[in-house]
Amino acid sequence: MKISIIGTGYVGLVTGACLAECGHDVTCVDVDPGKVEMINSARSPIHEKGLSELMERHVGRRLRASTDLAAAVAATDVTFIAVGTPAADGKIDLSYVEAAASEIGGALRHKAGYSTVIVKSTVIPGTTVGVVRAALERASGKIAGQGFGLGMNPEFLTEGTAVSDFSYPDRLVLGGIDARTHDVLRELYSGFDKAVPRIVTSPTTAEMIKYASNAVLATMISFSNEIARLCRAVGNVDAADVMRGVHQAGYFTTRIGAERVTAPIVSFLEPGCGFGGSCLPKDVTALIGQGREKGLTLNLLRSVLDVNKGQIDEIMRLIRRHFASLQGVTVTILGIAFKPDTDDVRESPAFPIIRKLKIEGARVTAYDPVARPNGHEDLTDVDLAESLREAVANAQVVILVTRWKEFSQLAGLLKELGRRPLVVDGRRVLDPEAFAHYEGIGR
Ligand code: NAD
Ligand code: UGA
Repeated sequence: MKISIIGTGYVGLVTGACLAECGHDVTCVDVDPGKVEMINSARSPIHEKGLSELMERHVGRRLRASTDLAAAVAATDVTFIAVGTPAADGKIDLSYVEAAASEIGGALRHKAGYSTVIVKSTVIPGTTVGVVRAALERASGKIAGQGFGLGMNPEFLTEGTAVSDFSYPDRLVLGGIDARTHDVLRELYSGFDKAVPRIVTSPTTAEMIKYASNAVLATMISFSNEIARLCRAVGNVDAADVMRGVHQAGYFTTRIGAERVTAPIVSFLEPGCGFGGSCLPKDVTALIGQGREKGLTLNLLRSVLDVNKGQIDEIMRLIRRHFASLQGVTVTILGIAFKPDTDDVRESPAFPIIRKLKIEGARVTAYDPVARPNGHEDLTDVDLAESLREAVANAQVVILVTRWKEFSQLAGLLKELGRRPLVVDGRRVLDPEAFAHYEGIGR
């Protein structure tokens, strides 16, 4: 099929490259000419395993990028919307989605023949048949279901393993306003493993499935973090041992309905310094915001965010066991990316930790093996180290925020440097016995 994708970020580019790999012909559209130029020279603007290889294989053949949305829509049968949907003032900001839909509608006005528009961005339930449909119909002068098809196909990939998540999904959620749209979606994914469940449904249900999926992951993490706090208060109980015990429980298979005990549910019970990223925090915030607009208080999800915020205080509390004051203390943050194997720093727990440290007068150094968030406002007055060695050479406190593999060398490196800083393990990946002074979440 001929496909255009509007918005070429983490989701748009991975979707484009993977659909090209499936044999489709794909044009990725973005307003950022720098990104478009990079893609057309087969260079990936993001750090994502396996993406460069796909781009090398398909750019110039079945994959290209452009800033010309109208031309891309005119030349393709299916158009995905994959622009950002940030949270602003406690609710979702749909302005990018609406703008993209209007532009697509403008292009459809002059296009003969039938086209299908599919929302892939994570949008609040009701958006596709509400804001998106209205913008498309207004700008095109056509009616959804007659002049064009309209659907919602949420994406469940996670950064760091996005290419393999997209290529081997655990489910495909195909939301459409009519049978014709469902057929288009089925055809799009016809090359995927037949055993992958296809959930054929309405756009609004598809939207709700996506939000509920992220909300349950965030809830699992905050649940584990709350239990970890209690473990710490009780003493002599390790939260990881507790979660290992919980993992064995049969009710994950029977109650949640999967046949196998696999990710994502059970892999989201790792206590730590909290969830970050461009999705879980904003999506839970957006759901709470939609609840508020409908006159509902979503207490559970509010608590999920409160517990998450509180994990930053847990880190500070662990440091205060050793330092009465942080004035002038040298503190190194290991990891700025919100998780390993990505260069994405959006909503990383590193930033609130850095803000607290700075307020208390600490001298902060930060190091990340991949992320280079130069110019980020929270990094003013923070030394950005070029290597792990440089980062920890003078540290009195080292806080591990992101579980990058490289950080497993920390114990050996400190020994070599003859340093004995306080090590605060925000992800519980280090061996407590390997350090002179160690603190870990939930230990
Ligand atoms: P992103 O910020 O990386 O990319 C969005 C891109 O859209 C940017 O490159 C931007 O320049 C472009 N854009 C904005 N307006 C445009 C327009 N009118 N025309 C053309 N391009 C335009 O965002 P992302 O992380 O890829 O997320 C996109 C959506 O997918 C969000 O709704 C997000 O919640 C959802 N999602 C993200 C992930 C993830 O892991 N990042 C996973 C699943 C779902
Ligand atoms: C998340 C979901 O996992 C994806 O399924 C979803 O498609 C995506 O959001 C989205 O909608 O955009 P992502 O944000 O890439 O993916 O990363 P996760 O692996 O979910 O990690 C999010 C945060 O939670 C990270 O900061 C991670 O360190 C933290 N986390 C994760 C924990 O603290 N404990 C855990 O047990 C798991």
